[in-house]
Amino acid sequence: MTLLVTGGAGFIGSNFVLDWLRQSDEPIVNLDALTYAGNLENLKSLDGDARHHFVKGDIGDRALVDQLLATHRPRAIVHFAAESHVDRSIHGPGAFMKTNVDGTFTLLEAARAYWGALDADAKAAFRFHHVSTDEVYGSLKPEDPPFAETHPYEPNSPYSASKAASDHLVRAWHHTYGLPVLTTNCSNNYGPYHFPEKLIPLMIVNALAGKPLPVYGDGQQIRDWLYVTDHCSGIRAVLAGGRVGETYNIGGWNEKANIDIVNTVCALLDELRPSADGPYARLITYVKDRPGHDRRYAIDARKIERELGWRPAETFETGIRKTVQWYLDHPEWVARVQSGAYRDWVSTQYGA
Ligand code: NAD
Ligand code: TYD
Repeated sequence: MTLLVTGGAGFIGSNFVLDWLRQSDEPIVNLDALTYAGNLENLKSLDGDARHHFVKGDIGDRALVDQLLATHRPRAIVHFAAESHVDRSIHGPGAFMKTNVDGTFTLLEAARAYWGALDADAKAAFRFHHVSTDEVYGSLKPEDPPFAETHPYEPNSPYSASKAASDHLVRAWHHTYGLPVLTTNCSNNYGPYHFPEKLIPLMIVNALAGKPLPVYGDGQQIRDWLYVTDHCSGIRAVLAGGRVGETYNIGGWNEKANIDIVNTVCALLDELRPSADGPYARLITYVKDRPGHDRRYAIDARKIERELGWRPAETFETGIRKTVQWYLDHPEWVARVQSGAYRDWVSTQYGA
């Protein structure tokens, strides 16, 4: 038995691969294009481990995907590969359409051809697990209940629109062709190997460098935060026991305003790596808001708990402490991902 994982060199994908191989000897074929967000260093501890087979390539390369499916005969595909950053999608939506929409389409077509030719038992056992986001549901008002799986799709950014489109393709490939799919829609993840263009790692690395901590708009936007290994365990639970064709929301029951997140990161750094220049919160700088910025996301994760018994293991307090400590312990990882391409992005987004 084998899994084909796409995007397994990115933030969540690499955590998933590491977590999977800590608990199972079932091998993983990891297909990743190694964009700016993919980093093989995340998987360094698997060097020489025969259970991990890395392939550099694009999910939109049908011939390559066909060849990987024919050679490795996976019993499931777990599809993480995507362009994932909202701000980048605002500056350049094209790559999001290409990977998230076209790439998912190509992967679905390859999966359909492979699955269609399996014998009856393998066909019944096969799963296409699509990893998606709560952002497809749009933005909540303060008094609204959290997103349930039945919430209408109301994506507002090019990123969330591209993920919504991919969710719809996955749904249609099940309804039309019978492909045995599962979809999970998860809230904001945080933890080790998170690329420092996203809120939490950006705040940690900027604070340590004595740089401004850019808070968009009034900082009162709310996200639900989930420690990344809890997302991984949620995916494992759905892959193992989720009902085919269903979607499952995964969340941390943990809504926080951005400014509270930034203040928490500052307070932890004050404790763990105090600065001679004073509290890190002095670096907080309010900047121009993100266009079309969604105000609030929140997840109702009762379905996955009711059906599969999943709940997050980490609280925000334990998860954020581990995360800050991880960045303090891995300055060389941070230095290496802050390449020329990273610096170009920072000047595009934050300018002078
Ligand atoms: P990421 O940007 O850190 O990693 C994406 C990975 O996909 C990278 O390794 C990249 O090289 C690879 N990739 C990109 N385009 C590719 C292509 N065309 N072919 C093959 N590989 C390609 O993203 P992430 O934060 O790890 O997110 C993973 C998945 O989880 C995405 O589908 C995202 O929409 C979803 N998700 C993310 C979050 C979050 O908070 N980060 C929350 C919910 C869902
Ligand atoms: P982000 O980590 O980009 O995730 P997403 O947009 O997918 O939720 O951003 C999380 C929140 O933090 C979002 O409301 C935007 C805000 N934010 C800032 O205030 N400053 C920043 O520099 C970044 C990157 C994000």
